[in-house]
Amino acid sequence: MTADNMHNPVRVACLISGGGRSVVNLHKKIISAQIPTRIVLVASTRANVAGIQTAAALGLETCEIAPLAADTLDDRLDAALEKSGAELIVLAGYLRLFRVARWKNRCLNIHPSLLPKFGGHGMWGEHVHAAVLAAGEIESGCTVHWADEQFDTGSIILQRRCAIDDGMNATQLAARVFEEECLALPEAVAKVAHWLRHGGTRPNFTVESNSKQKMN
Ligand code: GRF
Repeated sequence: MTADNMHNPVRVACLISGGGRSVVNLHKKIISAQIPTRIVLVASTRANVAGIQTAAALGLETCEIAPLAADTLDDRLDAALEKSGAELIVLAGYLRLFRVARWKNRCLNIHPSLLPKFGGHGMWGEHVHAAVLAAGEIESGCTVHWADEQFDTGSIILQRRCAIDDGMNATQLAARVFEEECLALPEAVAKVAHWLRHGGTRPNFTVESNSKQKMN
């Protein structure tokens, strides 16, 4: 990290709906790998999610946006994000459709499948891995992509792949995919942070080094 970046880290806000595991991972990698970013807010639009407690215990700023009234939720969320000074939003296990308008080209999502396969409404958590196994896939993985106005359809920044062993169940596959997520999300955030500070071409799809295959 250059001295300039250390003094001017990209300010990241993470949105979560559950355990916040991707936030914990990203926070650790930001510190250990010196990714020139700083998590300025961890927010949830669900009450009492475990990830908010976990993030607070790490010393991160947190907030819960009350889900009611639903018609003002997007505005209140935008206001909290703007107040935090965030430059980049990371949907890190956020299950509600995020209104991207204010944050176009400033919002990433991580999804636990090789999109465009096994994405969309209802495809989250073990539902994804159960569907992958039911389809008889021999590999799975994760995708980090730019968020757009639908679930899991924005253009891809990077993917990481992993093999599926015979007899694997959804829980085992989820754990294996999450190992890849722990590499993919910090790498994508680092690329985007570099782009935000230094310009150039917007980060887009690359196949990571753990794969010899191209995307379908
Ligand atoms: C990750 O698997 C990520 O792919 C997805 O949400 C999961 C993390 O959420 N978007 P959580 O921390 O388990 O709630």
